[in-house]
Amino acid sequence: MITGHRLTNRLHPTLILLISVFSLTACMNADDDAELGIATGPDPHSFANYDVVRVVHMSLDLETDFSREVLAGFVTLSLERANADVQLDQQRLVLDTWQLDIRDVNQVLPDGQLRPLSWRLGAAAQDPQGGSRDYLGQPLIIALPNSVEQVRIDYASSPEAFGLQWLDAGQTSSGAPFLFSQSQPTYARTWVPLQDTPAVRYTFDARLRVPQNLLALMGAGGNPVEQQPAGDYRFSMPQPIPSYLMAIAVGALEFEATGPRSGVYAEPELLTAAAAEFADLERMMTIGEQLYGEYRWDRYDLLILPASFPFGGMENPRLSFITPTVIAGDGSLTDLIAHELAHSWSGNLVTNQSWRELWLNEGFTTYFEARIMEALYGEERRRMQAMLDYLGLVDELKTLPPEDQLLARDLSNRDPELAFIGIPYDKGRLFVEWLESRYGREAFDSFLRQYFDDFAFQSIGTEDFLRYLEQHLINAIPDLASMDEVREWVFEPGLPAFAVLPDSDAFDQIDQTRQRWLNGEIGLDQIPTDDWIVSQWRHFLQGLDGQVDVDRMVELDAAYRLTQSENAEILFIWLMRSIETRYQPGIDRLERFLLEVGRNKFIRPLYQALADSEWSKPWAIEVYQRARPGYHSLTRQAAERALGLNNE
Ligand code: BES
Ligand code: ZN
Repeated sequence: MITGHRLTNRLHPTLILLISVFSLTACMNADDDAELGIATGPDPHSFANYDVVRVVHMSLDLETDFSREVLAGFVTLSLERANADVQLDQQRLVLDTWQLDIRDVNQVLPDGQLRPLSWRLGAAAQDPQGGSRDYLGQPLIIALPNSVEQVRIDYASSPEAFGLQWLDAGQTSSGAPFLFSQSQPTYARTWVPLQDTPAVRYTFDARLRVPQNLLALMGAGGNPVEQQPAGDYRFSMPQPIPSYLMAIAVGALEFEATGPRSGVYAEPELLTAAAAEFADLERMMTIGEQLYGEYRWDRYDLLILPASFPFGGMENPRLSFITPTVIAGDGSLTDLIAHELAHSWSGNLVTNQSWRELWLNEGFTTYFEARIMEALYGEERRRMQAMLDYLGLVDELKTLPPEDQLLARDLSNRDPELAFIGIPYDKGRLFVEWLESRYGREAFDSFLRQYFDDFAFQSIGTEDFLRYLEQHLINAIPDLASMDEVREWVFEPGLPAFAVLPDSDAFDQIDQTRQRWLNGEIGLDQIPTDDWIVSQWRHFLQGLDGQVDVDRMVELDAAYRLTQSENAEILFIWLMRSIETRYQPGIDRLERFLLEVGRNKFIRPLYQALADSEWSKPWAIEVYQRARPGYHSLTRQAAERALGLNNE
């Protein structure tokens, strides 16, 4: 997994800690044989000692090498001492790296000259039970005399970098190569050596050199609307961001504006459809601003990625990364755009300081997303979406042990990737809606507006939020809610008895007609599907789980042409039903879907369902082998887990 470095000793963690405290300054040499492990810093998912020294600015200078699938160059980090009287043995800068080839580390003198610093890569971390914690990567430990203010690291990424996907010409719709990053939660360290913790924010500037026929973009200021001569691009980010929001993309990209400060980047084949699909973008921004205050990032653009993008969307600042599977042709899946835009406040402006606090990002964003959608499309659509999300949460709660049901969920010894379950999103959103129900929209909106303002460009923890909430809402407007109730939401499993749940009658009509059809009382032509929105279709199809056989599938397909659906959310559920019933036209469509799309939310459950039955598992493995070259590392990992192909 870790390339380019000697394998590390497997020492007992306590021993590692002791040795590191006593002998670090003595053996600060890359040639030293003893590679010692060190403990993580204040963030359990980062080695960075940001309590001692912080990165406040970074300058990147990188070149893409598409033939070797490597990003190479250097980064210059500007430092600030957090603590003036640092102990001798702590005079070091510890950065996160993973799979990086570190070539050189130098101090940058005020006149620009370089002076070598001693450094070494520490051992990969182990958990207290002795298991592997590969996902933390390796600390880069640099000796740091007090005079050093800037450090330059020359390095290259590995072709296997988790945070990057390199697609060759045959794997994109344009026929040109493509590169994109995915840094959240802890993959920025696979393409930049940095303090990879959301607790640290920094500004940056960057120079990227890419092949001449390609366009380079970053989650930053300075994105071009057309290709630059000589493939030389410069960016700068004046607003401080946490590392998980670092983002780059390079491809045959074109731009179309959707408003004065918004637009869409995509490969040419998708551009027109994408710009039409997201025509409401500017209005969404205005609604966001009316709710929670000024949009502080200047521009907001969308980048439509190749279908292998492992997520629906990623809220990279100024430039959200978006799966093409939300281009349905009718704007019906734009909830996801509202969601990523909402992160411009909840998440990007006020940030979780570690992955334990993810709910502060995703819970508020899911709430905010629903508010934007309601303002655009009305109460009814919001009600149905809320019900769908709630039903999903109830299902998930049944599968989770109590300790994983908390909003503030301890993940210290686990892969931070595991933070991304429904709890921070949907339980988080129910918590926020409960607060809204107690205080009323007006008071609650102004509380939130103030909250985003007071903590703008800061990273905070659950306890910071609770203290603020107590002072500015619970005590300020007495007797409407109590801190005991709040703590129950945050620190207890399940949902409180006093939670305000979505209206249970949102789908009554669908449940009734579906049942009558299943009972043979009515035909499909008697179900009024003409004006159904996507949530209704999803609920209708979900409720067929375990209820239909192949004949019923044929009947449904004849009536609604579901195998041909252009809507990925509807198609996905239809493919699940096709697997359960072994409906052949659906299985054929599934094969194409698995070969084209890498979005984990769809791909993982599909492989899981295929792995669960005897007829389909060997077929799924065979399809996976063909699809694998086009998948992102994260999709490969998820699919291999589902299919039992990994040896863990
Ligand atoms: N920040 C997440 C993307 C993400 C998820 C990154 C998991 C790393 C791990 C993003 O804001 C998000 O939640 N995306 C969702 C869509 C949203 C509408 C729920 C997705 O990608 O499906
Ligand atoms: Zn999100």
